[in-house]
Amino acid sequence: MEYLGIDIGGTGMKGSTVEVSSGELTADRFRIPTPHPATPPAMAEVVAEIVDHHRYSGPVGCTFPGVVKGGTILTAVNLDSRWVGLDASKLFGERASCEFVMLNDADAAGLAEMRHGAGKGVDGTVLLITIGTGLGTALFVDQVLVPNTELGHIEVRGRDAESRAAGRIRKEKDLSWKKWAKRFNEYLNRVTALVNPDLVIVGGGIAKRSERFFGYLDHDVVAAKFLNNAGIVGAAMAVHEATTG
Ligand code: BGC
Repeated sequence: MEYLGIDIGGTGMKGSTVEVSSGELTADRFRIPTPHPATPPAMAEVVAEIVDHHRYSGPVGCTFPGVVKGGTILTAVNLDSRWVGLDASKLFGERASCEFVMLNDADAAGLAEMRHGAGKGVDGTVLLITIGTGLGTALFVDQVLVPNTELGHIEVRGRDAESRAAGRIRKEKDLSWKKWAKRFNEYLNRVTALVNPDLVIVGGGIAKRSERFFGYLDHDVVAAKFLNNAGIVGAAMAVHEATTG
């Protein structure tokens, strides 16, 4: 069974149809840069363009880099603040003439990993940390998602952890891998002490360079399988699970 998954990020918005029984993309990934400013109407245009590109008319799964409840956006740290309080499933649904199921981007990445990737068949507490523009987390207990955990925003050294250890910070501050890994390690030690996970999965584009920084980490971690497509696959899994129960 195929569904369209759309992943909204701070720099790009991308989508593909996904075969949910395997987690494989069934079309080319179509990507459009996120409009700036990233206002709701501008982003709704792009979402509709992605739907049209795939000539798709079924229910769509769509991620958002913030807290999402019942289709409504509650936080948008790295996007336009006009999103806060807005019903994104309604806005996108009307613009694209499809039904939309919205979820947090890290939660989507986590779903992809739990169903078809590094967390497949793993019970107990699993924490996925996705490293990119922001620092996202997804928490699972016996394969069940605890949504919107936002553990990338815990305080480390008196500051929002994301502002010290996100992937964007490594580039902006031109940190060596070692220096950035030390910051991430400090965050990892804090968050794992709070959650005590049985497995930690590290995702985001950076996970494909795991050899550059895993060696500096005190806690055991595994690399995510899906990397840049995790959000798309997870969004499709979410709409499939919401539709079929
Ligand atoms: C947001 C999270 C999101 C993460 C990754 C954070 O700034 O608060 O909701 O999952 O970035 O995009």
